[in-house]
Amino acid sequence: MITAAEEILSRLEEQHRATRDDLIALLRADEGDARALCAAADRARAAAVGDEIQLRALIEFSNHCRRNCLYCGLRRENRDLSRYRMTAEEIIAAARAAAALGYRTVVLQSGEDQHYEPDLLAAVLRTIKAHCDLAVTLSIGEREDGDYRRLREAGADRFLLRIETSSPDLYRTLHPDSDWHHRLGRIHSLRRLGYQVGSGVMIGLPGQTIEMLADDLLFLQALDLDMIGVGPFISNPATPLAGATGGTLELSLRFVACLRLLCPKALIPATSALGALHPIGREQALQTGADVLMPNATPVQYRERYQLYPGKICLGEEAAGCRQCVEAMVQGLGRTVGTGYGHSRKARATGAMVP
Ligand code: SAM
Ligand code: SF4
Ligand code: FES
Repeated sequence: MITAAEEILSRLEEQHRATRDDLIALLRADEGDARALCAAADRARAAAVGDEIQLRALIEFSNHCRRNCLYCGLRRENRDLSRYRMTAEEIIAAARAAAALGYRTVVLQSGEDQHYEPDLLAAVLRTIKAHCDLAVTLSIGEREDGDYRRLREAGADRFLLRIETSSPDLYRTLHPDSDWHHRLGRIHSLRRLGYQVGSGVMIGLPGQTIEMLADDLLFLQALDLDMIGVGPFISNPATPLAGATGGTLELSLRFVACLRLLCPKALIPATSALGALHPIGREQALQTGADVLMPNATPVQYRERYQLYPGKICLGEEAAGCRQCVEAMVQGLGRTVGTGYGHSRKARATGAMVP
């Protein structure tokens, strides 16, 4: 006899469709059904995107932030954090070093730091694009259209902006100084401006229910994103959410598995927060639908200060060490490192944004 979970999974594998109730059932599944879910996601990943794992070198160039997100160690009211800003030259040098290690993408990430005016960032982007064979992703938070346009014109290929939750009500409780609808509008603007766009949510946020997570899955599918990055919320003692229960590895992996089945072609990272939660959290995500890793390439002297949450991995590791580590990880899983830019599969299909 076919069980309810088997019926849901075969529909997901064949048609990439599920109802809210289906997803709630999968997120709550018993151990046996969860194993079947993860195996189905791994098959879907192999069929839709193959065995390559795309690497993106992460450069965390400033930990200043004008916002006060309740969960994040970079929030402006965290006075215990010693703040840093990398100079344009330091950012360019880190990107060059990443290219020399074999990366074909760098992700430039920071708090929402207005110190980096569009002119400054545009100059950094132009230099990186002129001198390194790199695709560039920005993850710098919300800006106006004019800024996004300038940065796109200066060579930025992609942008990551997590919506964090699909529930405007939950969003409001966690973000005292920002608005869910405005953030969603930024995501739509980025797409209109020709960026490859990534978004995602956190799993296990205080006040978040399984029903909300099922809504998140359907919301992310409907957004039709190029990349979807999700990870567990990890409570940071230096924030108002100190002591809150965080997301679990099990629920995060189920969520990643559902995402792959709903969005077979998407780029889905095994996020560092999963690595912080469990020594082989990233490996498990890569066997549950994920196909991207974002190793750290921030100069070592700054790493400790980019503390979104405790237990962050790779704090003492040089960029070269992380590169070796992830290559060994990929090999150990019997997969291969992608040698191209790892552009959006949607873009590749149309040829629209491939340089
Ligand atoms: N400031 C930009 C923004 O918010 O879009 C980019 C950098 S921000 C540090 C990147 C992501 O870190 C956020 O989108 C959020 O999902 C994640 N993050 C922040 N605090 C976290 C925590 N305590 N646990 C897990 N993820 C966290
Ligand atoms: Fe700033 Fe981003 Fe952290 Fe919010 S999540 S406080 S915007 S760095
Ligand atoms: Fe940094 Fe493993 S990825 S040490």
